[in-house]
Amino acid sequence: MKNESSRDHLQHVILAAKGFYARKDRAHDLDHALRVREWGKKLAVEEDADLIIVELAALLHDIGRSGAVEKTHAESSAGLAVNILHKTGYSQDIVERVKDAIVAHSREGYEPNTLEAQILYDADKLDFVGAIGLGRLFTLGGVQGWPLVGENSCETFYQEKIRGYQEHLFTRAARVHFEPLFLYMEEFWQELHNERIKISHSG
Ligand SMILES: [Fe+2]
Ligand SMILES: [Fe+2]
Repeated sequence: MKNESSRDHLQHVILAAKGFYARKDRAHDLDHALRVREWGKKLAVEEDADLIIVELAALLHDIGRSGAVEKTHAESSAGLAVNILHKTGYSQDIVERVKDAIVAHSREGYEPNTLEAQILYDADKLDFVGAIGLGRLFTLGGVQGWPLVGENSCETFYQEKIRGYQEHLFTRAARVHFEPLFLYMEEFWQELHNERIKISHSG
């Protein structure tokens, strides 16, 4: 594929993805996919992975989030991605490798075994940390009806899911980027609790 046509192909994929993401919650919209693509590009360069596989997988990884209930969202996304990539004209080899990365990105029944799949997993997690991660967490909490703190809350999701990502990242590059964004979030929750204590002691 020449450079010019590979750009056209990517544009076509973004356009196709846009339609699917328009129906999703705002924590998993096209902007999320575009940020995961940017993280993925960074990690692919740092880890010497195949850039096009990572980019395509990132763009399409969540398109099936409200798909068939008997499948995981990763399986639904992978199936839809295969159709889009075939129609766009990508080779069977690329289609297969992108599919393998997408299907394993939630680690439900499949493990990310290729470097590109591991990078997609890590890039996705990097969009759940820092100020952007907190914004996404509260957006998700709004959709789910979670309170800020207490049982089944934004804070418990943070403690039980997001905190745990740190130990599950695959690449060294991702761990380096994760650390400061994670510390920022830890400070945020500390500050939130300080404010709650101040409010409860005033008046
Ligand atoms: Fe996902
Ligand atoms: Fe995602």
